[in-house]
Amino acid sequence: MTDQSHPSNVHAAAITAELEWLSAVIAARLSHFFGGTDTPFAPPAAPTLPEGAALAQLINKAPLDTAGRLVLALALAPQIQPAVLDPFFVRNTGIDRPFTEFGALRQDSTFFQPTGQTALFLLGGGDTDRRIAAMGLFAPDHPLRSMAGVSLDRSDALLSGALLIAPHKVAALCEGRTPAPDFSPQFPARRLKTGLCWDDLILPREVVHGLDHIAAWLRNRKTILHDWGMQARLGAGFKTLFYGPPGTGKTLTATLLGQRTGLEVYRIDLSMVVSKYIGETEKNLAQVFDMAEQRDWILFFDEADALFGARGATTSANDRHANQEVAYLLQRIEECSGLVILATNLRSNIDEAFFRRFQMAIGFPKPDATLRAALWRSVLGKMPLSDDVNPDALGQAHILAGGAIINVARHAAISALRREADTISQRDIQQAIAGEMRKEGRTG
Ligand SMILES: Nc1ncnc2c1ncn2[C@@H]1O[C@H](COP(=O)(O)OP(=O)(O)OP(=O)(O)O)[C@@H](O)[C@H]1O
Ligand SMILES: [Mg+2]
Repeated sequence: MTDQSHPSNVHAAAITAELEWLSAVIAARLSHFFGGTDTPFAPPAAPTLPEGAALAQLINKAPLDTAGRLVLALALAPQIQPAVLDPFFVRNTGIDRPFTEFGALRQDSTFFQPTGQTALFLLGGGDTDRRIAAMGLFAPDHPLRSMAGVSLDRSDALLSGALLIAPHKVAALCEGRTPAPDFSPQFPARRLKTGLCWDDLILPREVVHGLDHIAAWLRNRKTILHDWGMQARLGAGFKTLFYGPPGTGKTLTATLLGQRTGLEVYRIDLSMVVSKYIGETEKNLAQVFDMAEQRDWILFFDEADALFGARGATTSANDRHANQEVAYLLQRIEECSGLVILATNLRSNIDEAFFRRFQMAIGFPKPDATLRAALWRSVLGKMPLSDDVNPDALGQAHILAGGAIINVARHAAISALRREADTISQRDIQQAIAGEMRKEGRTG
């Protein structure tokens, strides 16, 4: 007996109950079929599933009626409990072959692969009216397809095609969550992760205050939008601009906002977005935005300047296509129901009309001497240092942002190890700083 109250089992418990029901319906349908009686078919009632189960939520949300549920269970069975379908393997002894009625896909398969015909048989038996009524379940806009990811294999003719379910839906129903697709031109978004935590962020107080405000919105938006009835007026989305020089912590902050609020952060790669194939871009972006809204992701656009830049007048046909795609992107950002963060180094490039679309804009300044000292302490914290290294003095002497300080620490560590020293010296750091300055086109 499974413990249905245990959260890690709740999804499996629901699937088990659903497949037991499917098994009972199959038994009832077969005995009706073989019984040859004129009594109406009376299938067993569908079970009540535990509320917290992904399957129960999908059925409610889609929504799926009993017929839809049964087809979903039929599609799930080969993935989870193929033996549930074994009763369909019974042979028609009169002609020594499988029963056409059951709609098996292949005769040589080790498990019974159901098809659209199997579903029609289960729902309608030999009753043509009922079978035709059940065909509606396979319409492209039916929630069984759009929400539950159940479809018929198109390589086969119509309803004789294999009944399939999208692998990420199976994972979602079994585990309660879905792995997102891998990064690709078709899915130009990548999850941002970090080994650091919120306390590692070293930022001026007013910036932290702004970030607390965003975190508070994420935590309380349900109250504000639903309980206080503000959704119609405010809209569900929240758009934020992070602007500031390179290496001041914009990307890290976006990543940590997700960690702090328990939401996943996805970075959209703008360089992948403008595709040569018109229409493809919109389709690819639509996938990302749809998934982001379903799963409540934070969307992060790095180097968002590309978006503002392309808003001007166009000359070539290529520009016009790029502009059309940017317009689509801006519209999706505008309508997105979650948190969207755009990051840029160039606040001055943004026109006022565009700026007003943000609910918030947070400037990430170059760190002052005090913050730089804190950054040095934090970055050098676990490294073996010579006695002559003084983070406060480093912070006073060199105007560097966090990203540059990280780089300096990296090169200083490499130099120390190349010398076969067991500590990093002030000289290692000085040399690395000079290198970083040269890289940035400055002089030490
Ligand atoms: N304010 C900060 N607090 C703590 N660490 C920081 C901070 N700023 C930068 N860093 C360190 O520098 C690294 C690079 O910073 P990050 O990539 O977030 O900068 P950015 O503002 O996004 O830069 P860019 O504009 O070039 O994209 C971070 O991963 C972090 O280790
Ligand atoms: Mg960045």
